[in-house]
Amino acid sequence: MTKWVRAHTNIALIKYWGKENEEWIIPKNNSLSLTLDAFYTDTQVIFDKTLKEDELILDNVMQNASALNKVQRVLDEVRSQAGIQLKARVESKNHVPTAAGLASSASGLAALAGAASQAAGLSLSDTELSKLARIGSGSASRSIYGGFAEWVKGHDHDSSFAVPVDDADWDIGMLFVIVNDAVKEVSSRDGMRRTVETSPFYQGWLDSLDKDLRDMKAAISERDIEKVGSIAERNALKMHATTLGANPPFTYWTAESMTAMTAVRDLRKQEYTAYFTMDAGPNVKIICRQSQLTDIKDKLRPLFTDDQLIEARPGPGLHLVDQSQPTI
Ligand code: ADP
Ligand code: DP6
Ligand code: CO
Repeated sequence: MTKWVRAHTNIALIKYWGKENEEWIIPKNNSLSLTLDAFYTDTQVIFDKTLKEDELILDNVMQNASALNKVQRVLDEVRSQAGIQLKARVESKNHVPTAAGLASSASGLAALAGAASQAAGLSLSDTELSKLARIGSGSASRSIYGGFAEWVKGHDHDSSFAVPVDDADWDIGMLFVIVNDAVKEVSSRDGMRRTVETSPFYQGWLDSLDKDLRDMKAAISERDIEKVGSIAERNALKMHATTLGANPPFTYWTAESMTAMTAVRDLRKQEYTAYFTMDAGPNVKIICRQSQLTDIKDKLRPLFTDDQLIEARPGPGLHLVDQSQPTI
């Protein structure tokens, strides 16, 4: 019986932003993330001789050819490793808004790597799963693991994969401020390509990363949430600065993103541990202590509704779902 496979989203604290090799998704820099419990994808794959084409059914809707593109990279690699030619039906349920800067491509393509390899009868190591997820979407390489993971950039398909860093079984948490869950105008893929090709700030970003990564790893080993948060916030601001230098320029920020960022700075003045990070979308993620999540949520209620504020804690790595149907 083909099983459903679940992968959780991850949010980068040191961002991946730019590819060295577009075809194989080899990144320009190492990145480091935290996998979270609140958002995930369930996926099932069936290889079927009656199918004429691959199919992707996402949240009960048959997807068009362009959405199939990332998925087929993973399916083709699985077929090649398993020595099969069968077409596949991929069914997937996102428990995360799709393409809104909340890392659906990370959970989505990691779950696909697990489900497709399992359906083809392959029994892959975590490293092989990470490589397989990576060719669908770079950030998915990190969602194979729970807790903190580092995607080591490498230089080719065999050397570019994520490794576990720390199980994050401590007080770190994240509060998501959902300011807009609609599909973004500039996808992560297009946004980073445009930045690499045209932004004069891009080299400055790259030059600053070794130190950020080193400091972040030290902060994680010390379980220093203040340090983790402040390095992550500075790293995210530098990434977003590169987009303003692109041609044509763009930003993922909206007025509401600014409201959330200002609120986080205010929380710090009130002695809360609170730092923000943002990805390719307008939503803001607040790095904080799990033990302060409720208080911080209360403080933000005048600005945002309950539905906009979602608590997250460290989540698990890729795993089979213990049921015949996924939760809806
Ligand atoms: P996000 O911020 O959500 O990661 P991206 O622009 O990186 O946004 O990627 C969004 C794209 O990832 C979607 O348009 C779709 O092509 C793909 N995707 C998202 N979820 C899934 C899924 N469950 N299965 C297959 N592909 C998915
Ligand atoms: C800003 O992994 O979504 O979230 O590899 O082109 O699919 P592709 O892009 P994706 O990029 C994520 C960018 C980011 C930072 C990060 O998650 O590291
Ligand atoms: Co993505």
